[in-house]
Amino acid sequence: MTDLAGGRLPRPIPDTIHGWMSANDLGVLFALACTAPGPRLLEVGSFLGLSTCALLQVPGANVTCVDTWKGSPPWIPEGDYLEEFRRNTLPFGQVAEFRGRSQERLRDWAAIGARYDFAFVDASHVYEDVSVDLTHAWDLLVPGGILVADDYVGTHPGVKEAWDEQFCDVVFAEAPFPGTKMAVAWKVP
Ligand SMILES: C[S@@+](CC[C@H](N)C(=O)[O-])C[C@H]1O[C@@H](n2cnc3c(N)ncnc32)[C@H](O)[C@@H]1O
Repeated sequence: MTDLAGGRLPRPIPDTIHGWMSANDLGVLFALACTAPGPRLLEVGSFLGLSTCALLQVPGANVTCVDTWKGSPPWIPEGDYLEEFRRNTLPFGQVAEFRGRSQERLRDWAAIGARYDFAFVDASHVYEDVSVDLTHAWDLLVPGGILVADDYVGTHPGVKEAWDEQFCDVVFAEAPFPGTKMAVAWKVP
């Protein structure tokens, strides 16, 4: 599973789109999403669309994005980022966008039996929120689905703690995924 490290995007993303993922991380995210069992890709935390532009390059992808687009202090100042997200992502394709707190959105979707083939979690980095996002995103995945969380690093202890708590016993999980700052778990049936 580690041979995806060093993944490359078919189409480079303009460096005018601000974000925190390296070209390598974006390439690996894309490569992982290409191995998902189906086209339904869920992104939890999109900000200005950097990672979205990678997911939109997956052939046949159906990308759903959840974000407040209101910032995330202290990392992202409060503001309204939705229009910039739309401008940045439109050249790569269209997404289904849902504005709101992911903790409630994902919970509601899980309750009505919505399903995804791939989920990328990169919204709030506060332990309690990440914990809820990971729980619901995992529930939303079909058997064989793939869960990816960004920022499995010491500078984001909330992400690390929430991930380790839920996925330390999952056999098919790698944290961090080699060569990246992401954590990955496969929902093996
Ligand atoms: C780290 S950024 C996402 C970066 C994006 N994945 C990228 O690579 O460019 C986090 C985003 O999550 C959003 N966010 C923070 N807390 C949230 C919450 N509780 N529900 C939904 N979105 C949230 C912020 O508005 C911000 O846009």
